[in-house]
Amino acid sequence: MNDARERRRDPLGRVLVIIPTYNEVDNIRPVVTRVRAAVPEADVLVADDNSPDGTGKAADELAADDERVRVLHRQGKEGLGAAYLAGFHWGIEHGYDVLVEMDADGSHQPEELPRLLTALKGADLVLGSRWVPGGRVVNWPRYREFLSRGGSTYSRFLLGVPLRDVTGGFRAFRKETLLGLGMDDVASQGYCFQVDLAHRAHRAGYQVVEVPITFVERERGDSKMNRDIVAEALWRVTAWGVRSRVNQVLGRRHTG
Ligand code: GDD
Ligand code: MN
Repeated sequence: MNDARERRRDPLGRVLVIIPTYNEVDNIRPVVTRVRAAVPEADVLVADDNSPDGTGKAADELAADDERVRVLHRQGKEGLGAAYLAGFHWGIEHGYDVLVEMDADGSHQPEELPRLLTALKGADLVLGSRWVPGGRVVNWPRYREFLSRGGSTYSRFLLGVPLRDVTGGFRAFRKETLLGLGMDDVASQGYCFQVDLAHRAHRAGYQVVEVPITFVERERGDSKMNRDIVAEALWRVTAWGVRSRVNQVLGRRHTG
């Protein structure tokens, strides 16, 4: 606890904004440009899964013009979770203190980054949240809103995580939080990676704060959401929930 308090008095240190990409060739330049303008003190890492549309090459061109932009080329499409884990490891190895998650398609507005980072001064993890007062979504299809709100509500009750937007992907982590929540046995591949990390951070006793954001549906390219991603989230969250209930019951029998 003392450690945490010490940490919170300190300045944030070096910030790395990690942007995972798969087929975002029309989005990568505008988003990186906006990030660089909104938080000039932060560096950017594009984590590209060898996108067939040439996103990786476009990112290399940006990196050639700006030393604060780097590219992590991955072999093939392995899911959002794997791309972020590789990005986190890269960032920690390269001496960053804060690791930010952000989508490439403009849904997460770089101009809101300073607010997330300011909130991190008093927290271990900040979640950009669509479902707290002041948060909202623009142009999202009804079924996506239903799925996202439903997923958050299901996770809240099953996992006992007191957070409104558990599936979102606009977040700022302190390095210590990532190291402390046990990244190495995270198996989640798709978007349930986000639920997994929020759950782990909460369970490990970290202070998780939600900051309202405006999520704007992409204008270019396609979402990578599919049935497999929803199915993975559903079975994993259910399995985690059942396991923690079983542990609770066993724990009570022992002590009670
Ligand atoms: N490297 C890599 N590999 N990047 C990926 C992969 C992958 O397999 N799959 C998706 N991405 C990237 C996309 O290129 C984009 O930058 C970001 O991850 C989000 O993907 P989208 O496909 O745009 O997600 P979405 O808009 O449908 O979903 C949003 O809502 C989800 C549920 O709340 C995102 O904010 C997700 O982060 C969130 O979990
Ligand atoms: Mn998107």
